[in-house]
Amino acid sequence: MTSEPHTSTSEHRLKRLHERVGGIAYGGDYNPEQWPREVWQEDVRLMKEAGVNLVTLAVFSWSRLETADGIYDFGWLDDIMDLLHANGIGVDLATPDAVPPAWLIAQHPDILPVLADGSTFGFGSRQHFDVSHPGYREKSLAMAEKMGEHYANHPALCMWHVNNEYGPVSYGPHADHAFRAWLQTKYSGLDHLNRAWSTDVWGQVYSDWTQVGAPAQPRTWSNPSRRLDYQRFTSDSMLEHYKAERDVLRRHTPDLPIVTNFMRFYKNNDYWAWAAEEDAAALDIYPDPREADAHVAAALNFDLMRSLRKGQPWLVMEQATGAVSQWSVNVSKLPGKMRIGSYQAIAQGADSILFFQWRQAKGGTERYHSGMVNHAGANTRVFREVCELGQELKGLAGLTGTRSTAKVALVFDWDCRWALELGNSPRSDLNYAQEVLRLYRPFFDANITVDFVDTKSDLGQYSLVVLPATYLLTDDAAQRVEDYVSGGGRLVASYLSGIVDPDNTIRLGGYPGALRNVLGAWSEEMHPLAEEGEEVKLLTADGNTASADYWTEHLHTTTADALASYASGRLSGSPAVTRNAFGGGTAVYLSARVDSTFLERLLADEREAAGIVPELDAPLGVQVRRRTGNGRSYLLVLNHNDAPAWVDVAAGGTDRLSGAAVSGTVELAANGVLVIEETLEEYPPAENAR
Ligand code: GLA
Repeated sequence: MTSEPHTSTSEHRLKRLHERVGGIAYGGDYNPEQWPREVWQEDVRLMKEAGVNLVTLAVFSWSRLETADGIYDFGWLDDIMDLLHANGIGVDLATPDAVPPAWLIAQHPDILPVLADGSTFGFGSRQHFDVSHPGYREKSLAMAEKMGEHYANHPALCMWHVNNEYGPVSYGPHADHAFRAWLQTKYSGLDHLNRAWSTDVWGQVYSDWTQVGAPAQPRTWSNPSRRLDYQRFTSDSMLEHYKAERDVLRRHTPDLPIVTNFMRFYKNNDYWAWAAEEDAAALDIYPDPREADAHVAAALNFDLMRSLRKGQPWLVMEQATGAVSQWSVNVSKLPGKMRIGSYQAIAQGADSILFFQWRQAKGGTERYHSGMVNHAGANTRVFREVCELGQELKGLAGLTGTRSTAKVALVFDWDCRWALELGNSPRSDLNYAQEVLRLYRPFFDANITVDFVDTKSDLGQYSLVVLPATYLLTDDAAQRVEDYVSGGGRLVASYLSGIVDPDNTIRLGGYPGALRNVLGAWSEEMHPLAEEGEEVKLLTADGNTASADYWTEHLHTTTADALASYASGRLSGSPAVTRNAFGGGTAVYLSARVDSTFLERLLADEREAAGIVPELDAPLGVQVRRRTGNGRSYLLVLNHNDAPAWVDVAAGGTDRLSGAAVSGTVELAANGVLVIEETLEEYPPAENAR
């Protein structure tokens, strides 16, 4: 065990990781315990051929590392760590507590999570734990302690991976107990809780703390304020477990990065709070090859990861070389798509490309999930692509640690998401992530880099701020939005923003309560459109027509001007989209889900007025991102289209993939990628070059 003080910062730990693996980390989950030892030799030979420099071990190995209560067997893991080290491959070592072993469940069956309806998950899958169970907590921390002690000085160890995709929600007795304690810390007393939860509605007033607990399935709809608190508690209680393990590991290895893996669009954990406790945001990303524009939703998730730790490079912790195995039809990626998807993550700030998993399993639940080495072996297109990418990445070490800058911020906030989607709202099909995606896409298509922020963030550095269905705002957050606009900022807010306070109760006096002042407009009634495909016409102030579907509102202006009005349906003649001059800035309100052409034009007007220009003018489907730092600047150009595209890269520089000098108009093949190291006349590059 080392005794160094904890002086290392995340940045330092990550720098050290990349120095140790020689640049961008490349590899994936490796499960040697599923294979005979002869295969291990073949594995390391192939890993070297593929350029693998980091593998994640032991994610699901608890039953092999602690074979019975207190009987630890690290022998096999020592052997594979030694073998990997001897072959120059680093290890990201996981604590295996996503899978409490059968013997532990037999000892404590109440570790299994309880569903809201009172039934219990059975053993036989994974993530089968209630994180509030004291026995689970004790045993998982004991394992972290043992692993930390045993491997702190192992030369292969580069990084820690805590648990795997934290997520299970439990409504059982342990969660119930922990929730009560959480509430007692949050509320000054039961009166406070009764007020916050509006318990006078439907006669739910509590008179003793013993009556308060987890929101098990009620007869009909349940209290939305209570459920919102339960979501917050769930995220907090899992984070508390992560932090406890992290602290154990940190004590043993102060200089190694510690992370857990996040999921795409994952709902149950507030990743802002989580990322602040990690050395890097780390993402598992599985875009569905059946969706032609899957790269757009992936892009949103990548920008979110980049933003969670304020622009710090993040990690692709898992992706697939080809097919996954959890959907109804598991389509493999077409040739070239794994490569461009990997470069997309790098373009958007990732400093690792890791897969689930190294070798495709021959048994078990995920035996059809692709690997870097598939069932057919190494003589395959997939393995050839894996090797080619590994070789290419070796030349891109200079990218690690570089960052992107953005002048546009979009809010993505878990409190908003939970409150919006908990039900008992004007429509039950509200999908927060889709609302954000809708307002993100026009920026993606135009190659405008955006940051994500939460509602607690400072907005001062941005020229344009977008609030997509930012449903829940604290008074402070609403004030920050007002101050931002009055100080000269430009704001675009969409319907269902600013509706509720942190207790999930409605702000009165007209929607959107928290934003009425800054928007100079208010709604007296929400009018979601009920029929599938139902649309209303809009007439814009400049005499064009547009349309809206899904959502409309009976809006009035106070100080705002109408940019578009409803021209059909029950709201005909009322304003639909408004712009308000407020102090030195302006605030646009979209009271309706407007069509994408109108939305694109409106957002283009706003960003042009804010002086925000694309990284490059490029055809639709060609993504351009810039990463700068360490005295270098890289322009990454990716053609997501299945046909060639022509892009003017202006002064250009050297394409680090081909070694060729590039400038002016260049042809990019379908799925083609350029990683241009720009020739800098001045550093940092002038603002207007962005
Ligand atoms: C998740 C898990 C992995 C694996 C992959 C593929 O991301 O973390 O263990 O199951 O999905 O499905």
